[in-house]
Amino acid sequence: MSDPNTREGFASKIGFIFAAAGSAIGLGNIWRFPWLAGANGGAAFLIIYLGIVILVGVTMFMGEVTLGRYAQRSNVGAFKKVAPGWTWVGAMGLLAGFLILSYYSVVGGWVIYYFVRAIAGFNMTDPSLTGQLFESFITHPLLPLIFHALFMGMTIWICYNGVQGGIEKYSNIMMPALFAILIILAIRSLTLPGAAEGLRFYLVPDFSKITGKTFLDALGQVFFSLSLGMGSILTYGSYLSKKENIPQVSTIVPIMDTLIAFTAGLIIFPAVFNYGFEPAAGPGLTFVTLPAVFSEMPLGNLFGGAFFLLLFLAALTSAISLLEPLTAYMMEEHGWERKRATVILGSIMFVIGIGASLSMGVWSSFKIAGLVFFDQLDWVANNLLLPLGGMFTAIVVAWVWGTKNALQEATNDGTLKFGLGDFWANVMLKYVSPALVAILFLTGIGILKV
Ligand code: TRP
Repeated sequence: MSDPNTREGFASKIGFIFAAAGSAIGLGNIWRFPWLAGANGGAAFLIIYLGIVILVGVTMFMGEVTLGRYAQRSNVGAFKKVAPGWTWVGAMGLLAGFLILSYYSVVGGWVIYYFVRAIAGFNMTDPSLTGQLFESFITHPLLPLIFHALFMGMTIWICYNGVQGGIEKYSNIMMPALFAILIILAIRSLTLPGAAEGLRFYLVPDFSKITGKTFLDALGQVFFSLSLGMGSILTYGSYLSKKENIPQVSTIVPIMDTLIAFTAGLIIFPAVFNYGFEPAAGPGLTFVTLPAVFSEMPLGNLFGGAFFLLLFLAALTSAISLLEPLTAYMMEEHGWERKRATVILGSIMFVIGIGASLSMGVWSSFKIAGLVFFDQLDWVANNLLLPLGGMFTAIVVAWVWGTKNALQEATNDGTLKFGLGDFWANVMLKYVSPALVAILFLTGIGILKV
């Protein structure tokens, strides 16, 4: 059991904000959000997404930070402290992190490979060629594993160096770099002559595309994008100093996350349309369409390199937030040393990730319910563990630990003004969020139909 007096923590508020924003801003923002919005009604989707961020996202985010900071414990320990019968909620979160990082790191590896390829120049203006390149790379039995190892190695290295010496230090370097690259790329893209057509595709609202499923997709995306439901944010919250303002930081991070996701679309669609490509839905947009775009663009290897560097920074800061809750758990609850925990846990996830990577190629015929291993990991984590984890976290905070205690912690024992505090705790956290997430869950597993 760790001694609370020597417990690690972030040195500064900005350290927390960069680390938490680093967790939130990931592949989900840059790869998934743009095509989800583009394919689901553009601005109409954005409005729905924004509404859910404000109502559910900020609520749950604040709930996790508050619980973590109060308990001064990560995932499992926090539940043990405030609601001893509910430790399994924390355990479920740990399992989710375990599964997600295993395949997230495989994709992180793809990003590193594509970064190198982009710098060298793709020189393939035909998407059927870049499609072949992608296909032959991810199905290769060995090559993706090398990059998966590299990505996991870097993730381990950062967590290995501790909260201040690793997570905070590297987030403070990587996040400003990420913002700078994002702005440069957005300017490049928006000043292309054909940018307007891309903006039309991305932003013109098409309300006919809005169905019940759109709300569900948006809710799921808010969850994944804000890193909710598995204790990443709870654990980072436990490293936040007692003097900081929880309502403030819990609003800033979701705003940053949303802005970045939005900007990613401003980069991708103007460029795709300017060169006359079709915006593919899904992973193809990043790994198939964009390489063709960068082959057409003057200085395309520079801008392509910058884009995949952006994706890499986003993925790495998210990956460390997936490893950290498990690390903190082994340290707090099992007395492991940080170095041992990061190396052993990261290595196990690397091995599971090997299975995920091979399931794209040599093991692709091995399926359960029509899904290869990679997609099974993703399905179990995103459709079962995260929504359940999020729902029960809200329930534990609002009903078991209690909204009075939560408000006490969120306002630094009443010394901070938090005008919407009552609404946050007694309406949103207590009723609205768990109910919405329950709907997400029941639909995800096919019990409810929308
Ligand atoms: N939010 C990250 C993204 O958008 C992924 C992520 C990191 C995550 N930690 C998480 C998702 C915890 C769910 C739960 O890519």
